[in-house]
Amino acid sequence: MSLPWTPVYPIVTERLVLRPHTPADLGDLRQFHSDPDVVRYIPWPVRSEEETRVALQARVAQGRVDADGQWLVLAIELAETGQVIGEVLLKCASAEKGEGELGYALNAAFHRRGYAFEAAHRMLSLGFAEFGLGRITATLDARNAASAGLLEKLGMTLDSVARDQPFKGELVDELTYAIDAKDFS
Ligand SMILES: CC(C)(COP(=O)(O)OP(=O)(O)OC[C@H]1O[C@@H](n2cnc3c(N)ncnc32)[C@H](O)[C@@H]1OP(=O)(O)O)[C@@H](O)C(=O)NCCC(=O)NCCS
Repeated sequence: MSLPWTPVYPIVTERLVLRPHTPADLGDLRQFHSDPDVVRYIPWPVRSEEETRVALQARVAQGRVDADGQWLVLAIELAETGQVIGEVLLKCASAEKGEGELGYALNAAFHRRGYAFEAAHRMLSLGFAEFGLGRITATLDARNAASAGLLEKLGMTLDSVARDQPFKGELVDELTYAIDAKDFS
């Protein structure tokens, strides 16, 4: 596969619009970046408004990927209202090996309505069909049942377990799920 990744925006799904962040997303981002329940199993801290502003500044430039190790970070906008209800991410882990990594976080007020599945499924499709990836992984805290359920619904399967990994001041078990391009539908 080749870099850079420069998707054509907006990416439209049944109920969502996936697009790069803009500075106007601050209020919507703050709602979930400041929620302890949302960030519990992801590396971010609970963010203040200023910390969210700094995080958003970085995201505004993450609508394209130029090199290994960079993340494509897209706002998940609800088409009906324009509200940004989450973000979905895809890392170019290795262009040479065709490997990517998936990530996501949604405002808790919008959980369990299939939005994460809709956004993540489109991101996998983008990774395989448009960027030419051969394999996409996702790593999660073993206690994160919601994320494991989502990955299984996407057709991803458990690939490996890393015990006692340092995470936010404790040692946790990390699971890595994976899916190959040929198994994605
Ligand atoms: C993980 C997360 C993105 C799921 O978002 P969501 O929009 O609620 O997920 P969906 O509604 O698309 O659900 C898809 C599937 O995931 C699974 N799932 C979602 N929430 C679940 C939960 N609380 N418990 C068990 N399974 C769950 C189910 O299999 C679900 O399918 P179903 O509704 O047909 O049963 C959301 O819980 C979240 O933002 N968590 C905080 C951030 C985070 O942990 N990110 C992942 C880091 S690895």
